[in-house]
Amino acid sequence: MDNPIHRRCALLRLVVRAAAAAVLLLLLSPAAVTPAAGHNDHGVHKNYLVIVRSPYEYDKKLHQNVSSWHASLLSSVCDSAKETLEADPSAMTRLIYSYRNVVNGFAARMTLEELEKMSKMDWFDRALPEQTYHLLTTHTPEMLGLMGGPRRGGLWNTSNMGEGVIIGILDDGIYAGHPSFDGAGMKPPPAKWKGRCDFNKTVCNNKLIGARSYFESAKWKWKGLRDPVLPISEGQHGTHTSSTAAGAFVPNASVFGNGVGTATGMAPRAHIAFYQVCYEQKGCDRDDILAAVDDAIEDGVDILSLSLGHEDAVDFSDDPVSLGGYTAILNGVFICAAAGNTGPSPATLVNEAPWLLTVGASTSDRRFVASVKLGDKSELDGESLNDPKTTMGDPRPLVQDVDGTCASESVLLAQKITGKIIICDAGGVVSTEKAKMAKRAGAAGMIVVSPEVFGPVVIPRPHAIPTVQVPYATGQKIKSYMQTSRDATATFVFKGSMFKTPQSPMVAPFSSRGPNRRSRGILKPDLIGPGVNVLAGVPSIEDVELAPKAEVPRFDIKSGTSMAAPHLGGIAALIKHAHPTWSPAAIKSALMTTAETTDNLRKPIADVDGKPATFLALGAGHVNPQKAIDPGLVYNMTAAGYVPYLCGLNYTDQKVNTIIYPEPPVSCANLSRLEQDDLNYPSITAILDQPPFTATANRSVTNVGAASSTYVVEVEVPASVKVEVNPPKLTFRVLDEVLNYSVTIKSADGRAPASPVEGQLKWVSGKYVVRSPLLVVAGTRQA
Ligand SMILES: *[C@@H]1O[C@H](CO)[C@@H](O)[C@H](O)[C@H]1NC(C)=O
Ligand SMILES: *[C@@H]1O[C@H](CO)[C@@H](O)[C@H](O)[C@H]1NC(C)=O
Ligand SMILES: *[C@@H]1O[C@H](CO)[C@@H](O)[C@H](O)[C@H]1NC(C)=O
Ligand SMILES: *[C@@H]1O[C@H](CO)[C@@H](O)[C@H](O)[C@H]1NC(C)=O
Ligand SMILES: *[C@@H]1O[C@H](CO)[C@@H](O)[C@H](O)[C@H]1NC(C)=O
Ligand SMILES: *[C@@H]1O[C@H](CO)[C@@H](O)[C@H](O)[C@H]1NC(C)=O
Ligand SMILES: *[C@@H]1O[C@H](CO)[C@@H](O)[C@H](O)[C@H]1NC(C)=O
Ligand SMILES: *[C@@H]1O[C@H](CO)[C@@H](O)[C@H](O)[C@H]1NC(C)=O
Ligand SMILES: *[C@@H]1O[C@H](CO)[C@@H](O)[C@H](O)[C@H]1NC(C)=O
Repeated sequence: MDNPIHRRCALLRLVVRAAAAAVLLLLLSPAAVTPAAGHNDHGVHKNYLVIVRSPYEYDKKLHQNVSSWHASLLSSVCDSAKETLEADPSAMTRLIYSYRNVVNGFAARMTLEELEKMSKMDWFDRALPEQTYHLLTTHTPEMLGLMGGPRRGGLWNTSNMGEGVIIGILDDGIYAGHPSFDGAGMKPPPAKWKGRCDFNKTVCNNKLIGARSYFESAKWKWKGLRDPVLPISEGQHGTHTSSTAAGAFVPNASVFGNGVGTATGMAPRAHIAFYQVCYEQKGCDRDDILAAVDDAIEDGVDILSLSLGHEDAVDFSDDPVSLGGYTAILNGVFICAAAGNTGPSPATLVNEAPWLLTVGASTSDRRFVASVKLGDKSELDGESLNDPKTTMGDPRPLVQDVDGTCASESVLLAQKITGKIIICDAGGVVSTEKAKMAKRAGAAGMIVVSPEVFGPVVIPRPHAIPTVQVPYATGQKIKSYMQTSRDATATFVFKGSMFKTPQSPMVAPFSSRGPNRRSRGILKPDLIGPGVNVLAGVPSIEDVELAPKAEVPRFDIKSGTSMAAPHLGGIAALIKHAHPTWSPAAIKSALMTTAETTDNLRKPIADVDGKPATFLALGAGHVNPQKAIDPGLVYNMTAAGYVPYLCGLNYTDQKVNTIIYPEPPVSCANLSRLEQDDLNYPSITAILDQPPFTATANRSVTNVGAASSTYVVEVEVPASVKVEVNPPKLTFRVLDEVLNYSVTIKSADGRAPASPVEGQLKWVSGKYVVRSPLLVVAGTRQA
């Protein structure tokens, strides 16, 4: 196909050759750096992230900054002169982003031909084609959270509710007018804040201090994006995550009359800096994510919370969460990211780099209870978001559609279900759509049976007709009653929100599981936090038909590891306030070594099958904010400390240098390599890869508890492994003192463990228990 732009570029290249290097200087036009809004693009160009070598002294002398250098590199491949740039709008938009912090490279639109030419340049490292990331909410979003847990008051006192801490959220938009983002009573942001509010100035305040949209890359693949897309009124997901992390107190929050009291985020006095990088129904563009982190770090955020990820485990040097995350920790910014929603299958995690806090999801103890009363007088509990004042009255006939899932209008034959209660299995379309179809067919109510893999967990949604959602096992009971009873009937009793559900928290069925696919020797997820039925702010509730004049509901319950990550972002802000000098690694360690491993029945936290959850689902356990603020000891790290680890993972120098940019390049040959088990991580994974099946893990602990304190080690492991800790006692004399220990793990019978062995290592003093999960696996260190 002969495209005019393509031809033009070929022509220009001839000019470049003829005019040689002298032309280059002309190309340092800021116009090339600032992307223009033109859409004069004829489809031959595609987005690439281009990674380049570090600038030489020569490059630095020639160019005032890295952006102008990047612009000149790009120009040298295709466009030749400033005039041409100005004359050809498509050429002006070639440079989408020039990154300053997160990666040494730029995003640009190029033809394959140009890419090929570029790949021969001495400065070229590699180019990655565009990638779409996704928000990590389940598509049957859900409810409830740990709002107002009984012990939060004490922690808020110590941390002053995160006052002065800035939490950066990357998400799909934010409804700025939500009461959760009311600035009343908030102090102005600290002087270091350099960010922007691209909203109407009246909309940002001392709570929502920044709001920007990133779509310069996305706009090329999703043409519908408005230009500029300001995150003013959209943002189901981003409003929810932001208010979870740092929402202000909102009294009398409720979802359809299911009163939940005062809603608040984890850090009610922290500031929110919002970065829109995702677009509803579309996704999040990798290069926009990188640009937002690039800015957020310069803006002065303290915490970053990312509820997004790729579908797959991505190499740490190709992934924006990992690349941005490294630059974040290099700048003392704590970063947490959602673990993914593709559990319970193993090896489904995303966001696996060790410098991130990878957050899985748990259930909380709140349920929205409703019962199904069957004609045989039995009463079975499920959950419902219907207003507890809803009444069903007399029992109604109970029916099923032909295929059981109620997934299409044609099977919901009106005469069959009018005035009746229909029972529907999961599958086909979402249950909220099924409710709309059932309503059109005149059904009186609906029972939705959850998937078997969800075990006892139910994720209630608002439905157009009275609906009770039941666990799979309960659904089977109802169906067997229907089979044995000729005139099966049922009615519903709505009971509203109830707390103290036994056996909570539990691992959420959808929460992604390890092992870590990119670094087997680092246990992921790091921990779990509330991610099922989390109540937080929304612009309005989706999937619901409101009565005329009804007030638009401002809170909804959603579920996903997306909801768990901002809980940890908010809690990290509280710790940051209490301990402003702690490194991101120290905060992460505090969160992990104090996590709970038992539920409210004091039994090991269960998975959806009712059995104790494995470390691959649970990580270090369920976050306990109250304990995390005073952990006793921490496993500290500097950003540079991850470099020998990356070398140990056999990353090439190029990849290592991509990750650690803007730190000066290193060569692994010049460094000692670190095995994964020797990284100073708060959890321990021993890989017993070859006879005699012994591994050693070294660790350093920093005293942040009492100046003078003695810790004694306690190891609990099954008899199949033997563990020795040296020294078994650590005596600290001053605060911030660092002491080392090493753990030797041996297979007791001299053979590789047949299945993963789980134990724990605790350093115990009078006041503190500093616990690390200890996982022993067979196989190789390779990912
Ligand atoms: C880089 O330098 C150019 C001038 O050479 C200037 O116009 C541009 O704003 C600078 N960019 C940044 C990010 O400082
Ligand atoms: C909160 O902190 C203040 C001062 O630090 C203290 O006087 C007060 O007792 C604390 N309140 C609670 C509930 O711990
Ligand atoms: C900014 O918001 C105020 C108050 O909502 C409104 O009156 C004004 O028209 C808005 N300005 C713009 C430019 O949207
Ligand atoms: C909450 O709602 C109740 C009942 O509608 C009302 O009496 C109370 O004043 C409300 N509280 C606040 C703080 O709005
Ligand atoms: C951890 O290491 C960092 C970087 O060396 C240091 O600034 C910090 O004080 C150390 N201790 C803690 C508790 O963060
Ligand atoms: C690695 O060491 C060699 C020899 O000492 C030195 O020439 C080289 O510059 C070093 N490379 C890096 C990237 O530090
Ligand atoms: C681990 O610790 C032992 C004992 O202190 C030491 O001999 C060994 O060199 C250490 N290994 C690493 C990789 O630091
Ligand atoms: C602890 O280990 C680190 C390296 O892991 C080492 O630099 C430091 O010297 C050790 N400290 C002591 C007291 O042995
Ligand atoms: C790195 O390469 C070495 C040598 O090929 C190999 O023994 C080792 O297992 C590799 N490590 C990882 C983590 O892949």
